[in-house]
Amino acid sequence: MSSGFLHKYFLNNSKKRLHKWMHYFDIYERHLERYRDKAPIMLEIGVFGGGSLHMWKDYFGIDSQIIGIDIDPECKQHETDGIEIFIGSQDDPNLIENIFRKYPDIDIVLDDGSHMMHHMIKSFDLLYHRISNNGVYIVEDTHTCYWKNYGGGLGKIGTFIEFVKHKLDEINAVHTKGQMPVTNFTRTTDYIACYDSVVVFEKREQGKRQAPITEPL
Ligand SMILES: C[S@@+](CC[C@H](N)C(=O)[O-])C[C@H]1O[C@@H](n2cnc3c(N)ncnc32)[C@H](O)[C@@H]1O
Repeated sequence: MSSGFLHKYFLNNSKKRLHKWMHYFDIYERHLERYRDKAPIMLEIGVFGGGSLHMWKDYFGIDSQIIGIDIDPECKQHETDGIEIFIGSQDDPNLIENIFRKYPDIDIVLDDGSHMMHHMIKSFDLLYHRISNNGVYIVEDTHTCYWKNYGGGLGKIGTFIEFVKHKLDEINAVHTKGQMPVTNFTRTTDYIACYDSVVVFEKREQGKRQAPITEPL
């Protein structure tokens, strides 16, 4: 049961400009509540008015570290204690390398950046395998996967949502009897949750899959 903290925070926002779809708050709380007051390190791509970085700081607690990435240098002004902002493009491997050099143990990524197909996929490829073993990777505003001006289109090859559909097969790769290789993604992903406009990946090391039979004594 979520606390409803984020929804209330949004409605009573007294800090900085914040832009979210209302149904996202329950999704965030469902997947992120376990990190509250556990000093997580979170990276959000897309800073805009800085409001969400401050919301996360209040949600996760004083010992959390929030990192922002934005292409707009103006966003640097939203830095404060426990909130650091890196300026650059989300698909720049050097920028990502610099961030991991400073913060090797990122637990949570939220991609709310350009929402362009190639950026969403490139960011996933650069970041997912580097976040912690029990980490959470969230991509929001995936409705752009259906919008032409973002490189989207229903069923169009190369959209992030088609990439996610392939990842669903990849989770099941051990059962494809060699039709698909078992990858690092297969071995480290617990599940993918697909919502309206949001996709959540949760990581967990997968041991050997077994299906033993037990019988009553
Ligand atoms: C939707 S806004 C972020 C909103 C913010 N997360 C919030 O909840 O209030 C998207 C941001 O992504 C930034 N952006 C656009 N292209 C980018 C890119 N290639 N790399 C990083 N940031 C980018 C924009 O400058 C803009 O500030």
